[in-house]
Amino acid sequence: MAAGAGTLLTVCLLCAATLRTGFGLHTSNAVYGETIVMPCGQTIVDRLLFGKWKYEKADGTPVFVAARSAVKNKTSYEDVPEYNGRLNLSENYTLFISDAKISDEKRFVCMLVTEENVFEEPTVVKVFKPPSTPVIINQPTFMETGKLNKVGECVAMESYPDGNITWYRNGKILEPVDEVISIEYIKARNSTSGLHNMQSSLQYMATKDDIDAEFSCKVTYSMPNGQISSESDLAVFDIYYPTEKVTIQVHSPRKTIKEGDNITLKCIGNGNPPPQQFLYYPPGQVEGITGSSTYPITDIQRNASGDYKCSLLNKNMIASTTVTVHYLDLFLTPSGEITKEIGDTLSVTCRASASKDVSVTWMKDHKTLLQPSFKNLQYHDSGLYECETVLSEVDGLRRKETLNLIVEGNPRLKLSKKVNSDGKRKTIIYEVEGFPRPEVQCTSMSNGLFLNKTDERPLGNAKYSAEIIISPEENVTIVCTAENRLGREIRSLNVSAIYIPDRDEPNGKSEDNNDNAKLIIGIVVGLLLAALVAGLAYWIYMKKSSSASKHVGKELGNTEENKKLEENNHKSEA
Ligand SMILES: *[C@@H]1O[C@H](CO)[C@@H](O)[C@H](O)[C@H]1NC(C)=O
Ligand SMILES: *[C@@H]1O[C@H](CO)[C@@H](O)[C@H](O)[C@H]1NC(C)=O
Ligand SMILES: *[C@@H]1O[C@H](CO)[C@@H](O)[C@H](O)[C@H]1NC(C)=O
Ligand SMILES: *[C@@H]1O[C@H](CO)[C@@H](O)[C@H](O)[C@H]1NC(C)=O
Ligand SMILES: *[C@@H]1O[C@H](CO)[C@@H](O)[C@H](O)[C@H]1NC(C)=O
Ligand SMILES: *[C@@H]1O[C@H](CO)[C@@H](O)[C@H](O)[C@H]1NC(C)=O
Ligand SMILES: *[C@@H]1O[C@H](CO)[C@@H](O)[C@H](O)[C@H]1NC(C)=O
Ligand SMILES: *[C@@H]1O[C@H](CO)[C@@H](O)[C@H](O)[C@H]1NC(C)=O
Ligand SMILES: *[C@@H]1O[C@H](CO)[C@@H](O)[C@H](O)[C@H]1NC(C)=O
Ligand SMILES: *[C@@H]1O[C@H](CO)[C@@H](O)[C@H](O)[C@H]1NC(C)=O
Repeated sequence: MAAGAGTLLTVCLLCAATLRTGFGLHTSNAVYGETIVMPCGQTIVDRLLFGKWKYEKADGTPVFVAARSAVKNKTSYEDVPEYNGRLNLSENYTLFISDAKISDEKRFVCMLVTEENVFEEPTVVKVFKPPSTPVIINQPTFMETGKLNKVGECVAMESYPDGNITWYRNGKILEPVDEVISIEYIKARNSTSGLHNMQSSLQYMATKDDIDAEFSCKVTYSMPNGQISSESDLAVFDIYYPTEKVTIQVHSPRKTIKEGDNITLKCIGNGNPPPQQFLYYPPGQVEGITGSSTYPITDIQRNASGDYKCSLLNKNMIASTTVTVHYLDLFLTPSGEITKEIGDTLSVTCRASASKDVSVTWMKDHKTLLQPSFKNLQYHDSGLYECETVLSEVDGLRRKETLNLIVEGNPRLKLSKKVNSDGKRKTIIYEVEGFPRPEVQCTSMSNGLFLNKTDERPLGNAKYSAEIIISPEENVTIVCTAENRLGREIRSLNVSAIYIPDRDEPNGKSEDNNDNAKLIIGIVVGLLLAALVAGLAYWIYMKKSSSASKHVGKELGNTEENKKLEENNHKSEA
């Protein structure tokens, strides 16, 4: 109990002492460079003689700096080098010290002297200087993840008293953490000015989370009215981190790749900065080819299809992609210009080979048709055959082969005649078939002259027709020769000079179906023998006079008709 009371008493005494000192000891706070204002701290007493200001050196010896005689109403200043020109003692004994310095932090005493007494009142001077705005110097251009990076040094100059420097990341304070955050604070005091220079260096273990993180530092310092802080500019760093994944891309002009295309493989690492070099492994390549982030392949061929890989130079992180080179081949046999003879057999094949299933289509003279097959070639089989195939999955991949088939044949000639309505002129019609186009010439046996003919009229499929108009004075035999480089055919036709009115014989065969003709045949059957005799006589005569051509007798199927025509003529005459 007694001990408790004693403690309480001690506390109370301390309280009183503190109060008394607090009451007696004045403090004057001033900003560096500005004016220190020190009121005397004591009411001006009556019958005052003079007032004086002194300060106490470290060893306690007083140094008088200014005095004022109340009687004389006069102020005087001592010759103290440190304070020359800086002091001003006002009428109420307030001392002003201009241009506050750190060295002004002393204990000053105001003395008021009357005839009976001396009053002393001490004042402690405190000077404050704010530091320069903090600046982060020696910033790196980038930070690497996974190791301690120097973030920089935060520097705040010339502070009094010294302050503290704190670091921030995205506004949150950074405290030292082993191996992760290391902060080193260096203080230096200029012995001349007494000011503190502060420097704090930060080392920081960066991660990918520090991309765009804002670092700053703050200096906190004391001023007469409390603590103040000022902040540096924000510092943002490029964060370097290693590649964790490699991807490979194929850049081609179109969605699908075809032979002849130029393509580029692109290898991308997701690190920062992105890797610039890679190893490329085309199909079958084990070792890898060093290249930049792009790997061009020009004029790609089908054998370049396959898996392409790329990796970092250390062969880590392999990416792979499949490249398919589409191709389309077409084989047409035979192709180009093919010449065959009529009646020949020709087998034609068109086969497509491609990276996908394809079919072929056929065209003849730009019209579609089925796969042609020629067991017995005819003139109408001639033409331009095209075999085409398309790989529809691949833009613009189509192939076409052509076969220009020419069917040749030696000439085949057919003669017929008709009697013109005027009866005098007779028209001989020939039809010739053959390729190359045969040359046809007709002569009259009577004089051996070539006969004029009309222009040949094409009948299609290597057939042509023309007419010869004659007005025979006598019975004539017309001999026509058709010739091309494959051969020649000769036909002859007897034309009588006899006039038959209104008789037309465009085609000898049609006469078989003519009732009039049949009737006439019936009537004149009796005369047949006489005619035969005459004919035989004529034949003998001709045989004797002309044995020029052995082909003459081969006249094309008109023998019968001619005979009948001649018989008709007999009848008319009769
Ligand atoms: C002291 O002198 C100043 C002028 O120097 C005058 O203005 C002031 O009134 C005087 N004070 C007294 C108390 O006489
Ligand atoms: C002291 O201050 C007064 C006014 O506050 C001024 O008039 C006077 O010139 C000053 N004296 C000196 C020595 O600075
Ligand atoms: C003393 O005088 C100065 C100016 O001369 C004035 O600023 C100050 O307020 C006065 N102090 C007191 C305690 O009267
Ligand atoms: C110390 O301060 C003085 C005056 O302010 C200056 O001239 C000097 O260069 C400073 N010294 C250093 C080491 O900073
Ligand atoms: C500086 O930091 C110390 C310790 O953290 C603290 O005691 C002191 O008050 C701080 N000073 C300033 C000026 O912030
Ligand atoms: C591919 O590139 C070569 C030159 O590099 C060029 O001559 C050729 O025309 C290109 N081929 C295509 C299909 O663009
Ligand atoms: C593809 O074949 C051609 C010749 O057939 C050859 O020159 C080329 O090197 C081959 N390319 C690949 C990738 O095998
Ligand atoms: C054939 O026609 C030509 C002119 O076209 C003519 O000069 C010639 O006499 C004619 N020949 C015959 C046999 O009619
Ligand atoms: C044409 O007349 C000749 C005699 O001039 C004869 O020998 C021949 O057999 C006749 N030809 C035909 C097809 O009647
Ligand atoms: C012409 O032929 C006809 C019958 O074909 C015959 O009757 C006639 O006698 C012939 N004329 C001559 C001149 O030979």
